[in-house]
Formats: sequence, C-alpha cells, structure tokens
Amino acid sequence: MRILSGIQPSGTMHIGNYLGAVKQWVDSQSPEAFYCVVDLHALTLEIEPSVLREQTTDCVASLLAAGLDPEICTLFIQSHVPYHARLSWLLECVSSYGELSRMTQFKEKAERQEGYRVGLLTYPVLMAADILLYSAALVPVGEDQRQHLELTRNIAERFNNRYGEIFAIPEGVQPPAAARVMDLQEPTRKMSKSISSPLGSIYLLDEPADIEKKIKKAVTDTENEVRFDWETKPGLSNLLEIFSSFEGSAPELIASRYTRYGDLKNDLAALVIEVLTPIAKRYRELRSDPVSLRTIVYQGAEKATEVAAPVYYRAADAMGLVQ
Ligand code: TYM
Repeated sequence: MRILSGIQPSGTMHIGNYLGAVKQWVDSQSPEAFYCVVDLHALTLEIEPSVLREQTTDCVASLLAAGLDPEICTLFIQSHVPYHARLSWLLECVSSYGELSRMTQFKEKAERQEGYRVGLLTYPVLMAADILLYSAALVPVGEDQRQHLELTRNIAERFNNRYGEIFAIPEGVQPPAAARVMDLQEPTRKMSKSISSPLGSIYLLDEPADIEKKIKKAVTDTENEVRFDWETKPGLSNLLEIFSSFEGSAPELIASRYTRYGDLKNDLAALVIEVLTPIAKRYRELRSDPVSLRTIVYQGAEKATEVAAPVYYRAADAMGLVQ
C-alpha cells in the first residue's frame, strides 16, 4: 500500500515525533513508502535561513539514524520536488478560507504571534498536496495531525467531484500507544518542538544523563498507586504510554508490574536510553558525511518526482490548464 508522511525540520526531533510518527515509518517502510522532510512547511514560522539549512540536514540524518533505509523506501526533501508547491496552488483554489481558519493548529499558532504569515493559514493545503501527489492510501502521523488529514480527505473528495477522479482518498494511521506524547513537566500539553519546558521533552540525541534526569523529574501526582488513568493521572499515564510504545506491551500491563513510581521511572529511563543511544551514535556518523546525505535525498527526489509529476499534470489538466 502506498504510504506518505512528512516531518518539519524545525527544532530537534523529540520522542513525540519518534513514537507518534517516525517509528511507524520505520516499521512500515517498503518500496511503496515515501517520507519527506517538509522544509517548505518550516517557512510558515520565523526561522533563520542558516538554521533551516542545518536543521534540514540534521533531520535527514536523524531519520536515517532512526532506521529509515533508502534502499527500501524513498526519503526526500519536499522543496526538491517542485510539484508539491505547484499542486498546493491548485488545491488552494478548491479550499475555502473558512475551513482553513477553523484548523486548531492554525488558531493556536496564529494566536501566539502578530502578523502571522499567510503560509500559516494555507499550511494544511500544502500538506494535502504532499499526500495527494503520491496517491497515498495510508498516512502515519501523530494524533495532532488528525484534523489536517480530515481536511485532506475533504479537499480530495471535493476536487474529484468537481473535476474527475484524480486523487486517492487517504487514511491517517496512528500508533496504538503514544499517538500524543505529552510534555513531561506539563502533562496536559503536547510535547512540542516549538514550546517546551526545559525538562519537558526528551530529544532523540539527548545524553543518557539528561534522559534519566528528565524522566526522574517528570511530573506525576501525590498518590502512590501505579494505575493507567489519563483522567486522574495524566503524568503517570504519559510515562506508561511512552513505556508501552518503547516496549511493545499494553500500558495497563506495565502498570501492574509496579507499586512505586520511582521503580517505574528507573526502568523506563533505562529502556529509553537503551533505544536512543545507538540512534544518537548512528546520527553522529551519518551527520559527519553531508555529501552522502545529499546523494540519498537527491536520489529520493528523483524517485519521488516519477510518482508525483504525472499526478500533478493530471490534476492540472482536469482543472483546465493547457498542457
Ligand atoms: P511535525 O513536524 O510537527 O511532526 C512530525 C510528526 O510527529 C508527530 N508528533 C507527535 N506525535 C505524538 N506526540 C507528540 N507530542 C507529537 N508531536 C509531533 C506529528 O503528528 C507528525 O506525524 N504538518 C506535519 C508535517 C507534514 C505532513 C505532511 C505529515 C507535512 N506534510 C504530509 C504527513 C503527511 C507536521 O507539522 O508535523
């Protein structure tokens, strides 16, 4: 089945991105899977050009270190395939201002800044273009992207009804656990690249001592009972979901093994360190060879273009653009 997903190169990748999305990408990679670093999306917020440049390469190296294999799947940089921006314009012309301005992420981000960029509003249309260009059946993402996926489906259906059956209607896929990893210090807020308390996010490249410190200091509650219950124990339940995702067993089962928060935190820290340490090591090796990274993404863009270009031209033709 055709798969497409993307990640923004803004900020360092955290375990929310890893567990919510990237781990699913690694597990479902195949020649039919396309993964992109969405550098155009990163331009919707203020970012220094030199920082964007570095972080795009960092992001490519992190994805490879996490386990993506360019011999199996296609990894590319969004702006290297010009059809994303081109289809996005066509789709903007079948989207309404009203539906875009109702998007939760837009409202949250726009609230935090005066004079936000138009791109922040039209961002989900570019995301729809990313997905529809590849006729993706499945889109593995964290829970926060669910609304954007719904919008993509609506845009695709509207386009198909108006101009003919060009686009496949995609489904979002969320992992069974850790689809929404919360901030370790404020477990009612999502772990995020843009806003985060200093101890709130665990990054893929964190030192073991920092991982341990962050987990030990994670906010829980004043009771002493280890129970998986988001309503009354969000901090502990967040740790249990993270544990569940790293270990591959149910959070309730993990909870039943512990009577003390401290023991659970110690074991979770050891497990996270065991998984992330080799990723950080591979990252450092890969990042020290930018020429090889560039070759990988150039080849990826070529493969991606072969799939994306014909879909773009069919959509343009259906809308009446002279070919
Ligand atoms: P981005 O870059 O914010 O996040 C990348 C992926 O990580 C997931 N994620 C989380 N999952 C669980 N818990 C969290 N705290 C958490 N934070 C982030 C996101 O759900 C996402 O899957 N708009 C997208 C990028 C994008 C895209 C696409 C995705 C652009 N085009 C096409 C899929 C298909 C975004 O900003 O993700």
